[in-house]
Amino acid sequence: MRILVGVTGGIAAYKAAGVIRGFTELGHIVKVLPTQNALRFIGATTLEALSHNAVDPDLYTDVDSVKHIALAQEADLIVVAPATAAFLARYASGIADDLLLNVLLATKAKVVIAPAMHTEMWIHPATVTNVQLLRARGVVVIEPAVGRLTGEDSGAGRLPEAEVIVSQALNAVTNQDFAGKRLTIAAGGTREPIDSVRFIGNRSSGKQGIALADAASTRGATVTLIAINIDSDLSRFSNVVRVSSTEELSAALNAASLTSDAILMPAAVSDFRMSSPVIGKMHREDSDTKNLELVANPDLLVGLSRLRMDSKLNVALVGFAAEVLEPGQGSEELIDRAKEKLAKKGVDMIVANDVSNGQVFDADDNSVVIITKEEQQLSAGSKLTVANSILDVLRKFL
Ligand code: CTP
Repeated sequence: MRILVGVTGGIAAYKAAGVIRGFTELGHIVKVLPTQNALRFIGATTLEALSHNAVDPDLYTDVDSVKHIALAQEADLIVVAPATAAFLARYASGIADDLLLNVLLATKAKVVIAPAMHTEMWIHPATVTNVQLLRARGVVVIEPAVGRLTGEDSGAGRLPEAEVIVSQALNAVTNQDFAGKRLTIAAGGTREPIDSVRFIGNRSSGKQGIALADAASTRGATVTLIAINIDSDLSRFSNVVRVSSTEELSAALNAASLTSDAILMPAAVSDFRMSSPVIGKMHREDSDTKNLELVANPDLLVGLSRLRMDSKLNVALVGFAAEVLEPGQGSEELIDRAKEKLAKKGVDMIVANDVSNGQVFDADDNSVVIITKEEQQLSAGSKLTVANSILDVLRKFL
């Protein structure tokens, strides 16, 4: 999506950096349009670096390109964060005296505004009337957070956290087709302890699972994210369960399964664990070889599918298959293996990809086949694009 982020001149302008980053990290194309006063609080260099686009707030440069109309037409979504009381008043009155307000008056895109100011200004009748007027015209005005303000005081008027602004803005332009649906997503890779300092692990980054959680949340789902050894920031998700080993993952899945409509398992789960992990640190003991005795872990997806067959669970199940294809093997082989796994695991969907050469691990893009009993389709692009394709198919099982 092409998102225009307007920044107005308040102390919370520095927080616009987090909003811009939030959108770009999700793969959106971001342009930033600060007011001249916003640039007293945050530098154009910062805004350009974070958005990967040039910043030019001046109404009177490039006049020949009629840029207020071009910006207004190319945006799919306009987000103003922070929005000052003065900005709200000028926008509500239709005063187009800078580039941002010209764009806002000319656009047909959805507009989302995140006001930030002192409590006295937020509850002033003029501001209250301006907000009502803008809402009546279809502008989404995000409620300010309550908390510490610029001085010693605290109250309503704080700019909400960047994650809240990003998710509410995206929700405003996204079909809420997963509203009321509860999804459990297990993302990352398990670690089975060998001793107190070593483990058997794998190369899963968890990025595809996190993209699924982002996409599902944006489409209105209530998401429980089981994060398996994931280091990246997950603060935007309200329900995160952190686990490490397959045993811990199993317990988290069992707990979440009872209140889920669907369970998605992009998790890389170790098929084996140490029969008895060493307590303390295993020593070298001058030997050239060392044998570790491993025992099989239960197949968690198969366990869930058996519970479902016994009518003890009512969930849709989505398995993932990271396959290593030999040179010369193509998507036909991948599809065959995915079909086998669909039957073997007793799940509704298998999402399979080729991970030979390790090219998928930690990458931002993915290329998968999505297999159900009735259909098969390819999806490629950013992990968010692939996540939305998976959700499009999953919707039919809910
Ligand atoms: N899975 C699971 N429990 C395990 C192993 C895997 O629930 N002990 C899940 C994974 O999270 C994934 C799916 O099963 O969604 C397929 O994982 P994969 O490792 O490809 O399956 P395996 O059954 O281990 O197949 P293979 O013999 O190809 O390793």
